[in-house]
Amino acid sequence: MAKKKTKCIGILTAGGDCPGLNSAIRGVAKAAMHYGIKVIGIQDGFRGLVENRFTSLDERAVSGILTLGGTILGSSRDKPHKMLMGDNIMDMTGVAVANAKEMQIDCLVCLGGNGTQKNAYKLSQAGLKIITLPKTIDNDVWGTDVSFGFDTALNIATDAIDRLHTTATSHHRAIVCEIMGHDAGWLALGAGIAGGADVILIPEIPYNLNSVAEHLHNRRRQGKRFSIIAVAEGVRSVEEIEAAKEKPKNEKKKESENNLTNADGYALVQEPTASRIARKLQQLTGIDARVTSLGHVQRGGSPSATDRLLCTRLGTTVGELLVASNYNVMVAVKGDTCKAVPLEEIAGKKKLVPENHHWINCGKLVETCFGDTL
Ligand code: F6P
Repeated sequence: MAKKKTKCIGILTAGGDCPGLNSAIRGVAKAAMHYGIKVIGIQDGFRGLVENRFTSLDERAVSGILTLGGTILGSSRDKPHKMLMGDNIMDMTGVAVANAKEMQIDCLVCLGGNGTQKNAYKLSQAGLKIITLPKTIDNDVWGTDVSFGFDTALNIATDAIDRLHTTATSHHRAIVCEIMGHDAGWLALGAGIAGGADVILIPEIPYNLNSVAEHLHNRRRQGKRFSIIAVAEGVRSVEEIEAAKEKPKNEKKKESENNLTNADGYALVQEPTASRIARKLQQLTGIDARVTSLGHVQRGGSPSATDRLLCTRLGTTVGELLVASNYNVMVAVKGDTCKAVPLEEIAGKKKLVPENHHWINCGKLVETCFGDTL
């Protein structure tokens, strides 16, 4: 039997926003329209699908948004299978599927990070046809070389490190710069190398503060009177990891209940780790230390040229997949091409920095300390 032609798609953006979402919406919508497919926008991620909040995306609506930061559709971290409805958490999968069908959406295009890939996969299992794109400044989506949003954030964080260099040099200080990335170190690692940070701490390499202090001392001995320490928000010291292993489970639960986190368990208060590192380094070295937490600045503003190009490539590939009726896949970047990877291969996985990654070896060869050796 011939495959049914795609006549109408819905697009939503879910999870934390990032520069490039609008460029990707434009790429998907324009390519779909090129092939005669109607495009419907869904507001505020999966919540909009459950609450029937749709908007028409015609040629005019997606014109002039290539360079615009944020997302014209709005975003949320809501999951269809576990959604807060009033005071209750409910499984709204059935409603999401029914609403999409009611709107005659043949394929739901979801732009998001790891959480979105998982939610989209679940909806595909519940009967919706899905295509996803990999979006996140964390660059930790499994199955793709790179995610959109990463390059822009990398430029912002690198620029921040450049600026911190000049002030750290004037005052002979150590400056700890906290960089986003959730549990992955890609952003801190990339920006740290590009900005010439003297120390880079990432979650994939448990750090030892004495080793960092020793590196700062050595720099002083060599007449280098400033140091920049790039710290990924998810870092943990060797001692913290050991202590966590020994803690009884109920104590861990109590601790996390007391922490301020968002719906996905991301820390809302991001300052303490970097502050703690700065305070301890000052104690260990006697060097005047300061902290800068880049926070959501990394997710704001216009996408870089690289991200605009990437989003247009990824978005327009969706158009081609729609015509080929190739569903339940994520469009991944593989070298110079975009490839469809089955959602079931991606859902629930995370791409962390491998221990022997080329970027780490490069950093070591330019004398960057990763906090791992004494
Ligand atoms: O996943 C993107 C990200 O920016 C992470 O780097 C960070 O931990 C998290 O989102 C912050 O989430 P929110 O915007 O909900 O505070």
